[in-house]
Amino acid sequence: MAYSLYLCSLNFVLTMNLISDINIISQDTSPAQADNVRTTGDSNTGKKRKLYIESYGCQMNFADSEIVSSVMFDAGYDTTSNIDEADVVFLNTCSIRDNAEQKVRHRLFHINNAKNRRPEMVVGVLGCMAERLKSKFLDEEKMVDLVVGPDSYRTLPALLNEVDEGQKAVNVFLSREETYADITPIRLNNNGVTAFISIMRGCDNMCSFCVVPYTRGRERSRDLPSILNEASELINQGFKEVTLLGQNVDSYKWENEHGNVINFALLLEQVALLSPLLRVRFSTSHPKDITDDVLYTMARYENICNNIHLPAQSGSSSVLKRMNRTYDREWYLERVQAIRRIIGPDCGISTDIIAGFCGETEEEHQDTLSLMHQVKYDYGYLFAYSERPNTPAAKKYIDDVPEDVKNRRLTEIITIQRQSSHESNLRDIGKTYEILVEGYSKKSEDFLQGRTSNNKVVVFPKKHYQKGDYLEVKVLDCTSATLLGESI
Ligand code: 5AD
Ligand code: SF4
Repeated sequence: MAYSLYLCSLNFVLTMNLISDINIISQDTSPAQADNVRTTGDSNTGKKRKLYIESYGCQMNFADSEIVSSVMFDAGYDTTSNIDEADVVFLNTCSIRDNAEQKVRHRLFHINNAKNRRPEMVVGVLGCMAERLKSKFLDEEKMVDLVVGPDSYRTLPALLNEVDEGQKAVNVFLSREETYADITPIRLNNNGVTAFISIMRGCDNMCSFCVVPYTRGRERSRDLPSILNEASELINQGFKEVTLLGQNVDSYKWENEHGNVINFALLLEQVALLSPLLRVRFSTSHPKDITDDVLYTMARYENICNNIHLPAQSGSSSVLKRMNRTYDREWYLERVQAIRRIIGPDCGISTDIIAGFCGETEEEHQDTLSLMHQVKYDYGYLFAYSERPNTPAAKKYIDDVPEDVKNRRLTEIITIQRQSSHESNLRDIGKTYEILVEGYSKKSEDFLQGRTSNNKVVVFPKKHYQKGDYLEVKVLDCTSATLLGESI
């Protein structure tokens, strides 16, 4: 297996679960397991106009683009993968770090050329950057016709009518209720095996570094029946795995008409009970909220995957306090112990870590390194701190760790993560795992790839197996990114 290392920006992600042949890629996002940029594919159902969407950032954003496609389909649009034939181009944007925003600005610069050739093409900016910059976007980027925040996608057809009448259109209203529960997403980049289900929107946590509470609004949970319906439809269509998505899934809370409250543990159980052949994953968990109840539910159901994305952000209690994470190092380590005690030592644990947060001393950085040594994460999404305008950290603290120091600390964090990923994979050699086949390996159609319950990618000779099969694979070898095995 080729081993590639791309270190081309300040933010890196060390990932084992994305691409079987590459173990470190630069990326702007977690949670988690998201690709860098995704575009719409081609659909041709005879609709009159064509929509092209490019999505940046987290899985929530990719899931939102599937809602947008559905709204637009109902308004008379097919999707296209070719921007040159699109009547409407949407960029669904991310604001989490400055370089995520820069990427979108560069892209808009290029799209501007296409717009000069075809002025009738409508260009819209959706998502977190739209929400953060609001109508300022229209002043800054003259070629943008439409600015729409994450809670206003139902109004897209009406806003496009305004654009058709020669006006610019903005809707950045943030809702306390919108969950798009009744909209069936049109699955984009669909492998027919795995799909995302959005279970809640927004975040009330107010981590001091984070722009999300300002761009995606207050936390709200989707009703249980609509989540179960969506999962059942996916099962009927042949999907074998769902990932329940939310900024903080552990605070899922929905009350039915009889006053019964459904929390995340109960939701998880209900989804798992739909079919023993449906794998269930979720992301993201907050260390302050993940309960033993959730862990016992995971342990009870074979089809709930043994994998938890539990962002630590830092290993230093004083930094965690400045970050307003509302837990300390000891609390975090106790939660990790609970995972290993209740689910077992094989449960995959991944993290997000920020290097060089405001005021971070060398000693505080060492605390992060020692946390990583102690937990031995299976993989991690690793970032340099990027100050976001108007967040509590930007208002209260100085972004005072010099860039070269941030970089050096990030590199140290990456090195430890790479070692622990590799060691974790080496420990798997000789073991047998059940995997769900997701498709061909990236390198060759003679090989397939699938995932273990604890989210490791396994590549193995194809033989007669196909996408969607469950099978037992014995691990024979590994890189730090991928397990290599043989079906048994
Ligand atoms: N700078 C760097 N990383 C950030 N994250 C969120 N905000 C910032 C920021 N301002 C990271 C956190 C979070 C992940 C989604 O992105 O680690 O868990
Ligand atoms: Fe941001 Fe914290 Fe909410 Fe995650 S939990 S989205 S880091 S505020």
